[in-house]
Amino acid sequence: MKKLRFDIISIFPGLFDPLLNESILKRARDRGIIDVRVHNLRDHTLDKHKKVDDYPFGGGPGMVLSVEPIVRAIEAVKQGRSNAHTILLTPGGAPFTQEKAGQLAQRDAVILVCGRYEGVDERVGRFFVDEELSIGDYVLSGGEIPAMVLLEAVSRLVPGVLGDETSALEESFSSPLLEYPQYTRPQDFRGYKAPDVLISGDHKKIRDWQREQALKKTARVRPDLLKNQNVG
Ligand SMILES: C[S@@+](CC[C@H](N)C(=O)[O-])C[C@H]1O[C@@H](n2cnc3c(N)ncnc32)[C@H](O)[C@@H]1O
Repeated sequence: MKKLRFDIISIFPGLFDPLLNESILKRARDRGIIDVRVHNLRDHTLDKHKKVDDYPFGGGPGMVLSVEPIVRAIEAVKQGRSNAHTILLTPGGAPFTQEKAGQLAQRDAVILVCGRYEGVDERVGRFFVDEELSIGDYVLSGGEIPAMVLLEAVSRLVPGVLGDETSALEESFSSPLLEYPQYTRPQDFRGYKAPDVLISGDHKKIRDWQREQALKKTARVRPDLLKNQNVG
């Protein structure tokens, strides 16, 4: 059975506890499919006050996470796992996508570095990680939520993590289309009806309807996904 290990480097390791100890990630960890270790960046500083940040060269607001503790933390985590793929979470990174999640799910080990404050000394991203990823065009206060987003999106693509593997294959972004609309009981809620075709029992008709609806929804909500795609 494939196993994927995540090592996360953060100054707030406790933030990850709720996510790791509930639901799908807990089950995947209990079953040994996913292994997640969270490391406190402060354990890797040489500073006796456990300081991990400093004023930015050239002035400007706020503090910047220093290069040394982060590199020492990465090196410590990489010991015995030199093939680990190291990612810095930053709004200035390449967009994190479903395709990227699929690629990461095939790896054995992934290291996630969470920034804070005004960000991270540029040398970390340039010279000490394999790539920089952003979860979207907005700025959060830290890399912990982006790391959680990545952890969850990647984990559910590791074989055995979801109960039904086909559910990940059919979801939005697995093809160029958003997922087709889903309904469950009751069929009639205050006059708002789920489409009759879905309870017709005609599987071909249902698949055709789902495909048509996925196309319509994508064209309406995310026309950018259809550009340069052959989805006819
Ligand atoms: C306040 S942000 C720093 C923003 C930085 N000054 C800038 O303008 O790019 C602090 C940290 O949060 C994380 N972060 C914030 N938004 C993010 C995003 N959209 N994707 C990934 N990480 C993000 C990064 O780790 C970043 O170092």
